[in-house]
Amino acid sequence: MKPPLSAGKIEREYWEKIDEKNIPSHVAIIMDGNGRWAKKRGLSRIKGHKAGAKAIENALDSALHLGVKVITVYAFSTENWIRPEYEVSVLMTLLFQFLKLQRKKLREKNIKLSVIGDRSKLPEFVNREIEKALEETRKNNALVFNIALNYGGRADIVNGVKKIVEEGIDASTITEELFSKYLYTSELPDPDLLIRTSGELRVSNFLLWQIAYSELYFTDVLWPDFDTIEMLKAIIDYQKRERRFGGTGGI
Ligand code: FPP
Repeated sequence: MKPPLSAGKIEREYWEKIDEKNIPSHVAIIMDGNGRWAKKRGLSRIKGHKAGAKAIENALDSALHLGVKVITVYAFSTENWIRPEYEVSVLMTLLFQFLKLQRKKLREKNIKLSVIGDRSKLPEFVNREIEKALEETRKNNALVFNIALNYGGRADIVNGVKKIVEEGIDASTITEELFSKYLYTSELPDPDLLIRTSGELRVSNFLLWQIAYSELYFTDVLWPDFDTIEMLKAIIDYQKRERRFGGTGGI
């Protein structure tokens, strides 16, 4: 694939390895390691999260150039509320600032914002900013930037079951396809690739239903260090995989 003009010499070599006919449509990311990144530098965890927010911007730019259609990032899980109150409030403020600063950029870059998870527990000032960004970017179509907030994969499934029961859907009509329509991701394709940074080999309650056939990519790189080259390495690795979706792949 042709590199962007801004790419340096080493980055260009990675871009040139990318097969533009085999780009994952949906890339989901578990952005892990902000705290360890900060600790290594003698900085506060908060600085780590700030650097993590910056890395998201970079991931969006790479995705745009690659032609990825959806990027989902795990920004706050249903379990993250047990972190110290101060850290939770900083994460919420960072999210607020990120959306406020990015709104214009998302518009200019034709990126549509989407949010999955239970927003009812988020602070009012965050929800207001989310609403504005959702509204202002709703017609954009180059890339969907999907943020998982107060999201849990099991909660997503339980929530779907509740809605189905509430609507009185006949059990005999429930199929996998129908069930997918009751998940937070009803409008999105399933992820083709799930990336987790920082060396942890877990899926941590992220998109459990949706990643049934996703390719998994784990890297030791900490999230704030996940730059364009790291994204390209993940895509190159993905392109080497043979996806069979339970079939034989013709063997
Ligand atoms: C994991 O690092 C990351 C998170 C808990 C959330 C990710 C948050 C951001 C990237 C910043 C703000 C988000 C947005 C959308 C602007 P960790 O704290 O678990 O790291 P550790 O495992 O090294 O402690």
